[in-house]
Amino acid sequence: MPESRPAYYVTTPIYYVNDRPHIGHAYCTILADVLRRYHSMFGCETFFLTGVDEHGQKVEEAAKKRGLTPQQHCDEMQAHFRDLWPTLDISNDDFIRTTEPRHERVVKQALQQLFDSGDIYKGEYEGFYSQRVEKFFTEDELIDGKCPETGGEVQRIVEANYFFRMSRYQQRLIDHINANPDFIRPESRKNEVLGFLRKPLQDLCISRPKSRLSWGIELPFDSDYVTYVWFDALLNYVSVIGLFHDDPRFRKWWAVSTHLIGKDILTTHSVYWTTMLFALGLDMPRHIIAHGWWLVDNTKMSKSLGNVINPLAMRDKYGVDSLRYFLMREMVVGLDSDFSEESFLKRHNFELANDLGNLANRLVGFAAKQMGGVIPAPGTGSGHAADAEVMAMAAELPARVRGHVESLRVETAIETVMNFVRRLNRYVAETEPFKVIKTDPAAAGGAVYIALEGLRIALNLLWPVMPKKVENLLGALGGNSVVGYFDDLKWGGLVPGTALNLPEPPFPRFELPEFETRPAEAPAKADKAVADRANAAGGAKAEKAAGSQPSDGSSGAVASEHATFDDFLKIKLLVGTVLTAEPVPGSDKLLKLSVDLGEPAPRQIVAGIGDRFPVEKVPGSQVTVVANLKPRKVFGIMSEGMILAATDENGLSLIAPSGTPRKPGTRVG
Ligand code: MSP
Repeated sequence: MPESRPAYYVTTPIYYVNDRPHIGHAYCTILADVLRRYHSMFGCETFFLTGVDEHGQKVEEAAKKRGLTPQQHCDEMQAHFRDLWPTLDISNDDFIRTTEPRHERVVKQALQQLFDSGDIYKGEYEGFYSQRVEKFFTEDELIDGKCPETGGEVQRIVEANYFFRMSRYQQRLIDHINANPDFIRPESRKNEVLGFLRKPLQDLCISRPKSRLSWGIELPFDSDYVTYVWFDALLNYVSVIGLFHDDPRFRKWWAVSTHLIGKDILTTHSVYWTTMLFALGLDMPRHIIAHGWWLVDNTKMSKSLGNVINPLAMRDKYGVDSLRYFLMREMVVGLDSDFSEESFLKRHNFELANDLGNLANRLVGFAAKQMGGVIPAPGTGSGHAADAEVMAMAAELPARVRGHVESLRVETAIETVMNFVRRLNRYVAETEPFKVIKTDPAAAGGAVYIALEGLRIALNLLWPVMPKKVENLLGALGGNSVVGYFDDLKWGGLVPGTALNLPEPPFPRFELPEFETRPAEAPAKADKAVADRANAAGGAKAEKAAGSQPSDGSSGAVASEHATFDDFLKIKLLVGTVLTAEPVPGSDKLLKLSVDLGEPAPRQIVAGIGDRFPVEKVPGSQVTVVANLKPRKVFGIMSEGMILAATDENGLSLIAPSGTPRKPGTRVG
């Protein structure tokens, strides 16, 4: 590695200690961990920060409900987060609590600096106070002049407070966003922020009088007030790395900082935080990346609905590696995803148990029986043309994975490796070492070596996602360990003659609900299964699930030969660009696509083209999308449209604009 290595600093939001960690917190922290591990394999020096947000009204209220002081409450609750992370193989370098003196000191110094420079001033805050929920609302937030949460009376209150001159930095912020297109990602979130900035920015009230809220950092210039929780919390990203007390360390990490956040805290990070940094004379973070939400049955998780997913329970049931794999593989960073145990089990069984686990099992089992339990000599390979193909794929895999990770397509990076694993399975089927051993043991050994070496490379590339499992599996392959850097991942790392030792299947299968256990089922049948399930649940939903998309809305009436012009106009056909495509586990035919239709977020479309159109050719293609079909589930996955294709005995073509590509969302008609 070069003397001076590039650096990478990744942060998660600091979580409120008003509640226990749920799957959303675990997701973001695992994502940070995975990105950190990949970057260290790319050769970067890395720093990874997470922690807890301990001040503010929410925490004060939670403590009060439990009959504890806020400090007692925080001391107890922070442990739920701090202790969870090692059990999910999170490798954070530091864990910040905002009640720690090292943080409070920096917050006070930042406040004083802004007060001295005139960026913080005293003014009058006007708000509408709801006694019942003990909260302030602005006039805009009220509904018919009443509390938006309870419908109860509100009291107009004018209160002296301190304000941060956020408005002063509006244009500078707009300019920075425009000049740095990948500053806020994904693109749709950047546009959301620019949209927000079209209206004049107000100054931000950054204090709370102690008479109303005492749980916070006291203002250094007025002991009657504490600091607004967001102003305090955001500074954690710089207090930990040395702002005001260790300048070289601060500069080193701040220049390479990436904030991972959920979409709901986009404004606080992209507007409050950035303008605070401008005012303090500091640089912008390098990236702000907003991920989507984990939903349950397409609904927000909430305590009152009782649908909050507990990461501990999932880990205990299925193991930490499967949990990490599922969270990283299932969600496209930036989009919402539905969390269901069914899709979890499908991913586990089809991808980890079948594709990856079986490959390892079969090869090691075979070598144990027929090759003395050691890695065979590569010799001149299997003599099959596929040798060169597999080796060429392996050679270019690290760069492809790196490209996807750097553009935040973690799910595509994983899929790229898993496609290679599937190729290895086919390779074993093609070269048939199990048969060939009888006539040409050297060729059989060559085939097994190539498959095992391919597996070693795939496992290394999956280490950031499933560190423990990969370390164990590599150990089983002749005592191998994870390579430090992608650059060292060269063909030929396995040493012939070293012992293979895999005492049990690495990913035991879990029982699937009955209707999910027919992997090769035709989509029509799968739809029927979905419909049956809905029928069993009773009600009209069953019909919706069963209805096949093209005939939706025809209500079974005898079709007239002519569609009227009005009929045609009802159908909204749009040009789309496919962003990603991946096989639907358990189906040979279905692909799950994400398609850009020029809308704020891409559409998810399930298309039955996978058996006749190579999946790797789909991303980047333009397609024609029937965009106003009622969304429906196909193979248990929500599909929000249909793509048009023409099929004859020679294959399948996607219907797309000819010549120059058209803008996503262009109307066809
Ligand atoms: N304390 C603030 C953050 C301060 S950062 C300087 C906060 N805390 S939080 O605990 O309420 O939320 C933390 C993160 O969890 C947010 O990024 C939020 O988007 C994320 N999630 C909360 N529910 C979620 C899901 N259902 N799915 C994914 N992440 C979600 O906000």
